[in-house]
Amino acid sequence: MTTTPGLRPKSPHFSSGPCAKRPGWSPAALKDALVGRSHRSKEGKERLIEVIRRSKDILAMPADYRLAIVPASDTGAVEMALWSLLGARGVEVLAWESFGEGWATDILKQLKLKDARVIKAAYGLLPDLKAVDWSRDVVFTWNGTTSGVKVPDGGWIPDDREGLAICDATSAAFAMDLPWPKLDVVTWSWQKVLGGEAQHGMLALSPRAIQRLESHVPPWPLPKLFRMTKGGKFDEAAFKGDTINTPSMLAVEDALDGLRWAERIGGLKNLIARSQANLKVVTGWVDRTDWVGFLAKDPATRSSTSVCLSFTDPWFLGHGEEAQAVIAKKVSGMLEAEGVAYDIAAYRDAPPGLRIWCGATVEAADLEALMPWLDWAYARAKAA
Ligand SMILES: Cc1ncc(COP(=O)(O)O)c(C=O)c1O
Repeated sequence: MTTTPGLRPKSPHFSSGPCAKRPGWSPAALKDALVGRSHRSKEGKERLIEVIRRSKDILAMPADYRLAIVPASDTGAVEMALWSLLGARGVEVLAWESFGEGWATDILKQLKLKDARVIKAAYGLLPDLKAVDWSRDVVFTWNGTTSGVKVPDGGWIPDDREGLAICDATSAAFAMDLPWPKLDVVTWSWQKVLGGEAQHGMLALSPRAIQRLESHVPPWPLPKLFRMTKGGKFDEAAFKGDTINTPSMLAVEDALDGLRWAERIGGLKNLIARSQANLKVVTGWVDRTDWVGFLAKDPATRSSTSVCLSFTDPWFLGHGEEAQAVIAKKVSGMLEAEGVAYDIAAYRDAPPGLRIWCGATVEAADLEALMPWLDWAYARAKAA
């Protein structure tokens, strides 16, 4: 099909981060931002506490879990956890795409933990979850954003585990069910599912994680940005709105806007339903299309947020990897040039393909409109 499709997505924003703003967003959403004021003022702190409170409510986080706004986005939140908690026992690192591999590198090459085992899988697959030894700490990503492979649920995490379950959930929180009792550390950032501004992260800790903070002193130096204890005791300050350093009050307002929108549309249940409906649109199209497939092999592991697609057409597969990457880039480039889809090339370390964000801020109607454009762009790339 090389004739131009008639319909265009109303919004061409399908990036996997920063993700699309919520429907109807405009800069007017920030008009009451507490700019030019101290985040430590009464009003400033109230807004920070409001972010924490609304996040906990929407995500139905247990009352005895603690949640903080932390610097440096999801990366900052994960690093705080790894540097503060690891080393007390052996560690299992699950890696099936770029971000999990990044955490493995940190643990092996930076923290230099001797008793660390990396359990790997290739792009499109999950590692053997049954192989995980829960007498050890376990670091994993709930949704592998660069392969579109997620863990299907928390059934593989025992309730009576000895180690801590440390979960990077940045492209899962607000889009997938997170079974809190199975998770000791959960991290995410504002720039993902709710489409907030970047650079601030969220770090949730279970009572067992807090216990670890109080019973284990890491052998390495801890930068001020990572510190969560004072005099050997858990320091609740950051978890009560006293951020470690200065946040952007503009970003805070935007995060609040996203959270209030999430509540207006019916909370977590509807956020998840929207993401699932979006995935369904893509699935329907993949099922009736002969040149494309999901990178995730097992449907139960298919992400409903970072949906990764590979080209399955024999013509495409007949090319070497470099040429394949050029073709895939050509496809996403054409869609960008047409203004119908921005930023949908596969992640730089992932196999060549497309990655379409399907989180709650994306409208199913826009995905419906996008699908014929994918056929159009692929046909044109092939003809060329
Ligand atoms: C699974 C995962 N971990 C970590 C990150 C890094 O997030 P940030 O750039 O918000 O620190 C991302 C970003 O896409 C991600 O998808």
